[in-house]
Amino acid sequence: MTTMESLIGLVNRIQRVCTVLGDFGDADSGATLPTLWEALPSVAVVGGQSSGKSSVLESIVGRDFLPRGSGIVTRRPLVLQLHKTEERQQEYAEFLHLPRRKFTDFALVRKEIQDETDRMTGKTKQISPVPIHLSIYSPYVVNLTLIDLPGLTKVAVEGQPDTIVEDIENMVRSYVEKPNCIILAISPANQDIATSDAMKLAREVDPAGERTFGVLTKLDLMDKGTNALDVLEGRSYRLQQPWVGIVNRSQADINKNVDMIAARRKEREYFATSPDYAHLASTMGSEYLAKLLSRHLESVIRARIPSITSLINKTINELESEMDRLGRPVAVDSGGQLYTILGLCRAFDRIFKEHLDGGRPGGDR
Ligand code: GDP
Ligand code: NA
Ligand code: MG
Repeated sequence: MTTMESLIGLVNRIQRVCTVLGDFGDADSGATLPTLWEALPSVAVVGGQSSGKSSVLESIVGRDFLPRGSGIVTRRPLVLQLHKTEERQQEYAEFLHLPRRKFTDFALVRKEIQDETDRMTGKTKQISPVPIHLSIYSPYVVNLTLIDLPGLTKVAVEGQPDTIVEDIENMVRSYVEKPNCIILAISPANQDIATSDAMKLAREVDPAGERTFGVLTKLDLMDKGTNALDVLEGRSYRLQQPWVGIVNRSQADINKNVDMIAARRKEREYFATSPDYAHLASTMGSEYLAKLLSRHLESVIRARIPSITSLINKTINELESEMDRLGRPVAVDSGGQLYTILGLCRAFDRIFKEHLDGGRPGGDR
């Protein structure tokens, strides 16, 4: 792994432990922890209902594990942490609410997300702002924290309270308004971009388009004789980051259990052979989007290393005095977690210093 990969990996693990500690609801356990979590970048997926958010997330991960479909499927935020592991290690997933269970069957991961959603909301169309935390450990992922969110809607349907439209919007906004949140704004190509819920919210919280990635799904569903070049080439809606077009699996593909490898192959072929998009083929598709995001994340973390490091040092100091106060060894769970985060913070600091000693700060590739 490169230095940058190890640093991003550590950032990811620190975020995870911050989350665990957050759950103890104990303000004493490191006052800078919430600040530390917010200083670290994450990526939130935003868009209208059924625009393809969950499908895009799955493609980025390269695994089938999310509930997808028409109507309101995602009803709680899913905070998904990808941890890159050494080669040849077996892939597995782990939920924060089931800490001792390793999932190697991703169909069971999907089922657990559904069950855990229902546990909080019942088998209804209601939503809950309480996030589900899932970590995936795999040699094939890039180190990233991704957040899947319920889709923005226009009207309440049967079984939903009248306030649902606003409730969802406020929930989504609470994630994307954070300056360290990278917004993956999903719009379907078969609807006019001017009516896109994703772009409306993204423009509100990030007017300069600095941390918004525009993603156009369902290119395969556009009316014959039309194309999305105005959007994809940045003429309709200018962002600092390039637009990426995507072709996810259709509902028919999902019903036929078309797997991820076949879906990616189909997507690559779609762009390579499309008369409209062939000239853009190398910068389109889910695999390209995953690379683009991880590169962007690297540059964000690189730019913030000085402030992250000082925050981490502050956290180390606070944690050390907290440990002294608790006395060692600490038997309670939160004490164990404090040791973990302290270890991670020290590792970050050490790798960062080695990186500087290497004489090429910020340029190891
Ligand atoms: P979400 O509600 O935004 O999370 O959207 P989902 O990922 O659950 O997708 C909603 C529906 O749209 C599913 O039936 C998907 O199969 C379908 N879908 C998503 N993206 C595409 C696409 O690029 N092309 C086609 N044909 N269908 C898509
Ligand atoms: Na949906
Ligand atoms: Mg969804």
